[in-house]
Amino acid sequence: MTNDHHTPVLLTESLDFLISGNSGAYFDGTLGFGGHSFEILKRLNPNSLLVATDIDIDAFNFSKQKFSDDKRFKIYNFNFSQIDLIAKIESVTSFEGIFADLGVSSFQLDNPGSGFTYRSNAKLDLRMDKKKAISAQDVVNSFAEEDLIKIFFEFGEERNSKLIARKICERRKEKRIESTIDLSDIISSVTPYKFRVKTLSKIFQALRIYVNDELEVLKTFLIKSIDLLTFGGRIVILSYHSLEDRIVKDIFKYETIDCICPKDFPICKCGKVPRLKILTKKPITPSDVEIKLNSRSRSAKLRAAERI
Ligand SMILES: C[S@@+](CC[C@H](N)C(=O)[O-])C[C@H]1O[C@@H](n2cnc3c(N)ncnc32)[C@H](O)[C@@H]1O
Repeated sequence: MTNDHHTPVLLTESLDFLISGNSGAYFDGTLGFGGHSFEILKRLNPNSLLVATDIDIDAFNFSKQKFSDDKRFKIYNFNFSQIDLIAKIESVTSFEGIFADLGVSSFQLDNPGSGFTYRSNAKLDLRMDKKKAISAQDVVNSFAEEDLIKIFFEFGEERNSKLIARKICERRKEKRIESTIDLSDIISSVTPYKFRVKTLSKIFQALRIYVNDELEVLKTFLIKSIDLLTFGGRIVILSYHSLEDRIVKDIFKYETIDCICPKDFPICKCGKVPRLKILTKKPITPSDVEIKLNSRSRSAKLRAAERI
């Protein structure tokens, strides 16, 4: 399903990995505008359950109204890291399939007022959940220079982090940084023209990851999800940058290992049991045709695993 708000990425591939039978309970942690959920529902029988959540209130409201007729579909406005709480509320003890399509939707990126992109002017914020305490505006106006460097370097992998952080600290003494354009002007003023787009993307990505605590939330979600998978159930994750993909890859890999004892132990004492079989030796990426039709799919990586 393509809609004006968001075109779902790797749709057929995601569903082919995710759905192992046409019944049971499924979980979509990143409902967005329902692109993947809509297709999951099409493949499930009338007695199944799809539980989905989105932390963004606009996405939640849109999908809640759009899918209100389908009694198999339960929609939440929770963080996906609360999958265990949602399962409890729905009296689900385990899921046949758990899915997440990480990051932000095209609606969040394209909506000029949402402040998720340096491409349009809006209040600098970057929180997906507006109830969270710290916004990007708070970070750039009040954090110490060393903390800004750390955020830009760790979460944006930006080589010019020191210079950008220094410039931010200089400029905020003259005037509070309030808008996306205020920040992008500062970044642009210390970045050669040919690197500008990349650097702006990296700094905005770094701030977004920080204010939403995206990497820790992802780890929590993956660990809880594996606990909640039915034997033979599938977990499918779409990620859009290397920091996320590495977390998915490492956690999946750890769950395939049968011993974590130190190498010099003569016999295994850890009792670790492998819980996953990896279904995608290498991550699945979109075809050239998909990238041509939807340029935002270009960085997507799909990893899937099965509970054993
Ligand atoms: C790429 S979009 C998903 C699009 C969806 N698959 C579709 O086809 O319409 C990612 C969505 O996940 C939401 N999101 C990101 N992190 C989240 C989290 N920790 N918990 C719940 N939702 C989250 C965002 O608000 C956004 O709407």
